[in-house]
Amino acid sequence: MSERHPRIASLRTPAMLRARLEALDVPLPCDDSIESAPGSPLAVPLALGPGPDGALELPNRFVIQPMEGWDGTPDGRPSELTVRRWENFGRSGAGWIWGGEAVAVQREGRANPNQLVIDESTLSPLEGLRESLLAAARGAGRAEPVIGLQLTHSGRWSRPEGSARPRIAYRHPLLDRRVQVEDDAPVLADAELERLVEDFARAARLAREAGFSFVDVKHCHGYLLHEFLSARSRPGRFGGDALQARSALSRAILEAVREAAPDLRLAVRLSAFDHVPHVPGGDGRGVPEAHELPYRCGFGLDPLEPGRIDLGETVAFARLLASLGVSWLNVTASSPYYAPHLQRPALFPPSDGYLPPEDPLVGVARLLGAARELKRAVPELTIVSSGWTYLQEYVPHVAQACVREGWFDAVGLGRMVLSYPQLPADALAGRALVRKKVCRTFSDCTTAPRNGLVSGCYPLDPFYRSRSERRMLEAIKRGSS
Ligand SMILES: Cc1cc2nc3c(=O)[nH]c(=O)nc-3n(C[C@H](O)[C@H](O)[C@H](O)COP(=O)(O)O)c2cc1C
Ligand code: SF4
Repeated sequence: MSERHPRIASLRTPAMLRARLEALDVPLPCDDSIESAPGSPLAVPLALGPGPDGALELPNRFVIQPMEGWDGTPDGRPSELTVRRWENFGRSGAGWIWGGEAVAVQREGRANPNQLVIDESTLSPLEGLRESLLAAARGAGRAEPVIGLQLTHSGRWSRPEGSARPRIAYRHPLLDRRVQVEDDAPVLADAELERLVEDFARAARLAREAGFSFVDVKHCHGYLLHEFLSARSRPGRFGGDALQARSALSRAILEAVREAAPDLRLAVRLSAFDHVPHVPGGDGRGVPEAHELPYRCGFGLDPLEPGRIDLGETVAFARLLASLGVSWLNVTASSPYYAPHLQRPALFPPSDGYLPPEDPLVGVARLLGAARELKRAVPELTIVSSGWTYLQEYVPHVAQACVREGWFDAVGLGRMVLSYPQLPADALAGRALVRKKVCRTFSDCTTAPRNGLVSGCYPLDPFYRSRSERRMLEAIKRGSS
């Protein structure tokens, strides 16, 4: 594997990374050195425009992506581990906390029994979580970040008690098998969706009461609202060939949220493109599962050639979002459940994944390219890009070049912040990056929850060194190797 795809750490200089990108024919700009504030493009504040609560400004272009840890309490409140993660987000120096992590608007829509839930009973702990993050930011001398909450229903990937309890938009020829769907019972009825609209609206009102500046109505990674965007085979008013019907649920939710919490800003994290679910091929590398053509179950792809991205409908949907009052779009892709290489480019796969079918740099460039296309097509939206971590020590070099060239407005970091929370602060201060904290995409933070353990950076975060979960994870990995 490593012979095929050189490790980033082996590319000793930015020039070597540029040469590798050129050899792969993926156009990504990369600066020779990290610029510090105030000259760095990443240090330029970003006006988020006037809103119901006045004008908001981001102190810099670093964003912390939502990342859950499978570590809430069974009744949906944050645990000490959750608070620790959010405090790290606060200390990072990033100007924007995009949602913190996925928080379920219905208990039955949780992706795992330890996912946070938002309702009247969890309001005060969620308020406390936000305050802990702010206190950590102040304690570390960082500028105050803008903080939102990501609202979700996990749909097909719901596991509220630990076993699959899928609630789906439509019957899927490939994914039904993966979550033991055998008949139409898990298909959500239109009447159930009306209740869901109310639950999103109530959750948004509560998020505002808890002090969050915005909510992200999650439309990504195969979860419910993402799945509805490809519900071509669903009869009735929430499905069909026309995008207008497939986006009717999104429209109803966003309108209800606006009415319930008029002084809350609206954001959406969107899987801009997709692919056919992947499985390990003969040599262990990911290949698309056998499928019929046209492939009618994707959003942002060509149904006749599903490996080819087609952002036509994605752009139309982004324009619809803008018309509904959404001003910020966070661009991600596909799903970690069935095509992780598109969403979290990594050299080492998670336990339920496959070896990378391409140099992960290609995956990074694809994600950043999609964000760039959406910025070009819908410039009125503030665009956050995703999928940065695989660039490792070169995150700042590439990020500052992309932002300078206007590819998108902001740079959203995921896994890197689990291993190295202070990377944004170090980069902006012009300090040398701490190489031993740089995420090497070992995927333990994905493998752990797939095996029922809390997530975290087991290899690099010393906090996990003495924890029993680390020993359990090592035993699991030994057993599967
Ligand atoms: C442990 C873990 C938890 C995640 N949880 C969420 C989540 O709650 N919501 C979400 O939209 N994305 C989630 N993601 C995806 C990340 O936000 C991000 O898109 C992904 O890791 C790719 O970015 P990166 O290359 O910087 O890691 C999660 C990723 C990881 C590794
Ligand atoms: S476990 Fe740590 S090093 Fe591995 S991918 Fe996650 S954050 Fe990166």
